[in-house]
Amino acid sequence: MPFTPARRVSTFGTTIFAEMTALAMQHNAINLSQGFPDFDGPAEVKRAAIAAIESGKNQYALSNGESDLRRAVAAHAARFYGQSPDPDTEVTIVSGATEGLFSTIVGLVNPGDEVIIFEPFFDGYVPDVIMAGGVPRYVPLRAPDWHFDPGELAAAFGPRTRLILVNSPHNPTGKVYSRAELEAIAALCRKWNVIALSDEVYEHITFDGVPHVRLATLPGMAERTVTISSHGKTFSFTGWKIGWCIAPPDLTTAIRRAHQFVAFASVTPMQAAAVVSLSLDDEYYAALAADYQHKRDTLAGILREAGFEVSPPAGTYFIMAGIAPLGFTDDVEFCRYLARDIGVAAIPPSAFYSEEHKALGKGYARFAFCKKMETLEQAAERLARLKLA
Ligand SMILES: Cc1ncc(COP(=O)(O)O)c(C=O)c1O
Repeated sequence: MPFTPARRVSTFGTTIFAEMTALAMQHNAINLSQGFPDFDGPAEVKRAAIAAIESGKNQYALSNGESDLRRAVAAHAARFYGQSPDPDTEVTIVSGATEGLFSTIVGLVNPGDEVIIFEPFFDGYVPDVIMAGGVPRYVPLRAPDWHFDPGELAAAFGPRTRLILVNSPHNPTGKVYSRAELEAIAALCRKWNVIALSDEVYEHITFDGVPHVRLATLPGMAERTVTISSHGKTFSFTGWKIGWCIAPPDLTTAIRRAHQFVAFASVTPMQAAAVVSLSLDDEYYAALAADYQHKRDTLAGILREAGFEVSPPAGTYFIMAGIAPLGFTDDVEFCRYLARDIGVAAIPPSAFYSEEHKALGKGYARFAFCKKMETLEQAAERLARLKLA
């Protein structure tokens, strides 16, 4: 008899990314599903990683992260947001934002604690909460502008609420939460003494001058916010899995308690290279956003031309495109058809909703535009076939 998975993971299945990537490979489809660039980040950062390996930085790093990288993360927070986290007690280097989320949730959520999650959500949030024994409470973001209903959010808070997960800029919708929206969230966190877990991995990818507001900088939030970001997203090295958590000392202690037994430490030579990334000048960040804005406009045009309904996102490198004008009502069926018959892979967003609200995602497909222009052009040729189908 085969062994079965433990109860805590038995409901998880395989991620939608694995299914769509397999389908893309099987049908030789252009992969606009998973959010990884098909190009590398800056050459000097790659050279720094190679130099670190050659100079012998190949053994375990400090568990909390190498000192120079923690200092570089603190300097970045000061440079862009006017924060002044203590690198020794308030910054922890983790193995990608994924591990940061897990270590934070496992380190802070007790069995039975409630965790508020906006839908659609990044697909790791719910499993993390379940593995911690927490109870997800869902608040849907509503199309077309992906706003939340303030009454619905207020009703989700209560004496059992321990944590709220906020992701801005938001995957998969591309929404960038306004200061007013974040202030409404902050007021509820203060009222109910709730911790905010702010996933800001797309902090440097916003368009048309829309500002990214750091939740931790709002009044009364520094002492109750864990900010998580990812070297992979800002510097286009998603395979290196370097991320960081910035949080006050009490929350950092909880994160580190878990982190030391989840990953112990993160990859040593990549930490050395990440120090170089974080020292890049303002032009790098401006060029990153400008390049993605151009790609957003290109993909939005391609999708509109192919018959989708598109409102351009204010941030991230994703577009949620409406499939109704193409005559489809089921996102999973549509994405399978798209990969198999048209040769382009996308993600069905209903995977990012609880059972209760799945229907809200069924009318869309999520496309990633963190790709070379030639990849987008190839996708355009194939997507044009949708009109003939
Ligand atoms: C919202 C969000 N959070 C976290 C992550 C994970 O980041 P990392 O690759 O650093 O683990 C992703 C990656 O797609 C994401 O979109």
